[in-house]
Amino acid sequence: MVAFKEMNKYFNEHHVLKNINVQFEKGATTVILGPSGSGKSTLLRCSNLLEIPQTGILEIDTLKVDFSKKLNQKEKLLIRQSTAMVFQSFNLFPHKTVIENVVEGPITVLKKGKNKIYPIAEKLLDKVGLLQKKDSFPSQLSGGQQQRVAIARALAMEPKFLLFDEPTSALDPELEGEVLKVLKGLAEEDKSMIIVTHNLNFARVVADRILFLENGEIVFNGNTDQFFNNTENERILSFIRSMQFI
Ligand SMILES: Nc1ncnc2c1ncn2[C@@H]1O[C@H](COP(=O)(O)OP(=O)(O)O)[C@@H](O)[C@H]1O
Ligand SMILES: [Mg+2]
Repeated sequence: MVAFKEMNKYFNEHHVLKNINVQFEKGATTVILGPSGSGKSTLLRCSNLLEIPQTGILEIDTLKVDFSKKLNQKEKLLIRQSTAMVFQSFNLFPHKTVIENVVEGPITVLKKGKNKIYPIAEKLLDKVGLLQKKDSFPSQLSGGQQQRVAIARALAMEPKFLLFDEPTSALDPELEGEVLKVLKGLAEEDKSMIIVTHNLNFARVVADRILFLENGEIVFNGNTDQFFNNTENERILSFIRSMQFI
């Protein structure tokens, strides 16, 4: 479980996340929706301390940190290792091959032996359909393939939670599907995931829960069907309408 309690994040005077109370359950896929600038990326980034909130509590299973106190290095490391983020822009190492990208974190951060991690990396590459590309360089792959490598790389870190920040928004539509299929497979395996996306159809299919953010506040936190079948919350209705053209 990942939970925030009364969490606030400011960029200077700009209050970008306001009194956030939320719990992400193990084994569930939560999709975060909301207009641009509503704080979706910042919320993900606060979950793995790429951003540090000013106040509030973060709990990841038995780990608990209070942001109003200074975090020590050990706490930071434990939290960072509990999650793995997949970014919009893939962020692979360009001078390393596909499989070297996947084993890099486990070897340098988790101190895994090469004999152990290479077979695991091959399995993960197979899972994302890219075993045959293991010795290619990122520049030789399509964007969709690069993003699938990034997903294998995140899985190799064996995080408690996988975080995805608009994982397909840099991709052409015909490459988006292959990445969404991999994510759907992970959701069906009951991996614990938090996904920011603008793809409502995808959200409807994979999400166990929807979190809707606006102006740094959680406007909706609930069941996926409830979100899409909502008839009362005008803000949600107009958001859904704005993403469609009918
Ligand atoms: N590093 C930063 N420094 C200053 N302001 C930021 C920074 N990152 C995000 N913001 C601001 O915080 C707000 C939320 O941003 P973000 O979390 O990126 O929104 P979203 O992902 O929903 O589009 C925006 O107003 C954005 O301009
Ligand atoms: Mg964002």
